[in-house]
Amino acid sequence: MAVTRIIALATIMAISHVCGTIAAPQGRILEGENAAAGEFPWVASVRVDNAHVAVGSIISQYHILTSAQGVSELGSTPISSSRVSVRVGSINQFAGGQIVSASSILIHPSFGNFLHNIAIITLAEPLSFTDRIASIAWDTSELNETLADGINVLLAGWGLQLSGASPYRLQKTTLSVLSSHECEYKAGYGYESALCLNHGVNQGIGRGDEGAGVVFNHTLVGVASFFFGAGGTEFPDVSCRTAYYSDWILNNVDPALAYLK
Ligand SMILES: *[C@@H]1O[C@H](CO)[C@@H](O)[C@H](O)[C@H]1NC(C)=O
Ligand SMILES: *[C@@H]1O[C@H](CO)[C@@H](O)[C@H](O)[C@H]1NC(C)=O
Repeated sequence: MAVTRIIALATIMAISHVCGTIAAPQGRILEGENAAAGEFPWVASVRVDNAHVAVGSIISQYHILTSAQGVSELGSTPISSSRVSVRVGSINQFAGGQIVSASSILIHPSFGNFLHNIAIITLAEPLSFTDRIASIAWDTSELNETLADGINVLLAGWGLQLSGASPYRLQKTTLSVLSSHECEYKAGYGYESALCLNHGVNQGIGRGDEGAGVVFNHTLVGVASFFFGAGGTEFPDVSCRTAYYSDWILNNVDPALAYLK
C-alpha cells in the first residue's frame, strides 16, 4: 500500500517536472504580493552557477537552510559547493544585496524522492547582519504543537509566476496549515516529518519556491518541499517540519559558528 502511494506520487511528480519544462509555464507563489525591502531579512536566493534554484533561510551567520533538490546531484550527494552561492539582503533576485559563496553543502542523508527534502549550506564567510540581512530561529518543538488545522503561516519566494516569468521581486503569501490527518486523507502525505499547507486554487508554492521558509510567530516552522502537479491544484503543498529536523540541524550547524548569530 505504501509502495502504491509512492508510485502514485512519483507519477504526479514526473508529470509536474514534464509540465514544468516543456508545457505551458506553470508554478509560482501564486497570487502572491510584493514583499517590501527588509520585510524578510532571513530570505536568501540559493544559486547554482549564479542562477536562482531555490529559496533559503538564514539560520546563522554561516548557515542557510534550504531544500535538498536544488543543491543535490543524485540522492544525498551534494553538487560541488564551488558552483553554489546565495544572494542575501535583497528582495531583487537579480541585483543588490551581497553574493556569498558556499563552502560546503549537507543534504539530509535520507533525502529520497519526496521525503526529507532539506539541506544546509555553510557559507565561506560570515554574513554581517543588517536591517536587511538577519537570521531566523527554527522551531524545535514548542510551536509544532500549535500548528493546528487552519493556522496561518507566511512564505516568501521567487518562484515562477503565471506568465512563466521569474519575478525579480520577492513575492509573499499566507497559507494555512493542514493537519497531518487531513493531509493523509487528501494527499496521502500525513508523514510526521511533513507540514502540509492548504491553499486556494492557483495559489501556493511553485517552481523556484522550494526551500522557502514557512514562518509562524517569527519562527521557521517548515521548509517548502514540493507541490503537486503544476502547483495551485486542489492538493496541499508540502513542507518539511523544522521540529522534526531540529536535532539534525543542530548537530550539523557547527556550534562554534552557530552561536555567533
Ligand atoms: C509567539 O512568540 C512569543 C514570544 O516571541 C510567545 O510569547 C508566544 O507565546 C508565541 N505564540 C505562540 C502561539 O506560540
Ligand atoms: C509535530 O506535530 C505533529 C502533528 O501534531 C506530530 O505528529 C509530530 O510528532 C510533532 N513533532 C515534533 C518533533 O514535536
